[in-house]
Amino acid sequence: MAFIVFEGLDGSGKSTLMNRLSQILKDQKIDHEMTREPGGTELGDKLRDLILAKGPYAPTPRAELLMYEASRAQLVETWIKPRLQNGGWVLSDRFAASSIAFQAGGRNINEADVVWLNQFATMGLEPDLYILLDVTVEESKRRRKNRQDSTSVAEDRIEAEKDDFHNRVRDGFLKLAKNNPKQWFVVSAELSTEKMLELVLVRMREHKWLK
Ligand code: TYD
Repeated sequence: MAFIVFEGLDGSGKSTLMNRLSQILKDQKIDHEMTREPGGTELGDKLRDLILAKGPYAPTPRAELLMYEASRAQLVETWIKPRLQNGGWVLSDRFAASSIAFQAGGRNINEADVVWLNQFATMGLEPDLYILLDVTVEESKRRRKNRQDSTSVAEDRIEAEKDDFHNRVRDGFLKLAKNNPKQWFVVSAELSTEKMLELVLVRMREHKWLK
C-alpha cells in the first residue's frame, strides 16, 4: 500500500504521468485508485468550481485557503482513508503541499497557519511520496497556452495570476522538497513522460513498493 501525490505548476504534466503510473500498477495487478484536489468528492467538485471561477464569487486569500482545506478534509475522510485502510494504493493529483506552495508561497499567507490547517484537514495523514514535476514558469505558461488554444477552455482564476505568483509557488515546492528529501522526489518536467516514469519507478523500487 502506498499513498503517492503528484505536485507541480499547472501544465507540468502531472496527470499524464499519474495515468502512466496507473497503467504500470494495473500491469502488476496492484489495486489502486486515482483522485485529485480540489475535488474528488461530490462536495469537493462543487467547491472546485467555486474556487476556480472568476467573477463575483472570487474568494479572498483566506477564504480560498479554507475552501481548499474543506475539499481536502472531505476527500481524506470519505475517500482516501477508507481506501488506504483496505490496503489499496491511492494516487492523487495534488494534496496538502499545494496549499503550502500556492496559499503560503503564492498568496503570502503565514506558512505556520497553512501547516496547521493542513494538519487539521488531513487528520495528520501524510503521503508516502510526493513527486514534484519541476518546470519553469515560462514553460508552464507556454504549455497552458497550448492547452487553452487546443481545448478552448479559458484559464482559471489561479492560472491567471502573474508570473511573480507562479515563481513563488515554484520556489515553495522546491523548498518543501529540499527540506524533506525522504518524502519528496523531484523530476524535471522538461523530460519526456517515459523518462520521468522510468525515474519514478526506480525510486518506487527503492521503497520496495514495486518489483
Ligand atoms: P489542478 O487540478 O492541478 O488544475 P488543472 O486541472 O487546471 O491542471 O489545480 C487547480 C488549481 O488549484 C491549480 O491552479 C492549483 C490550485 N491549488 C491551490 O492553489 N491550492 C491547493 O491547495 C490546491 C490543491 C490547488
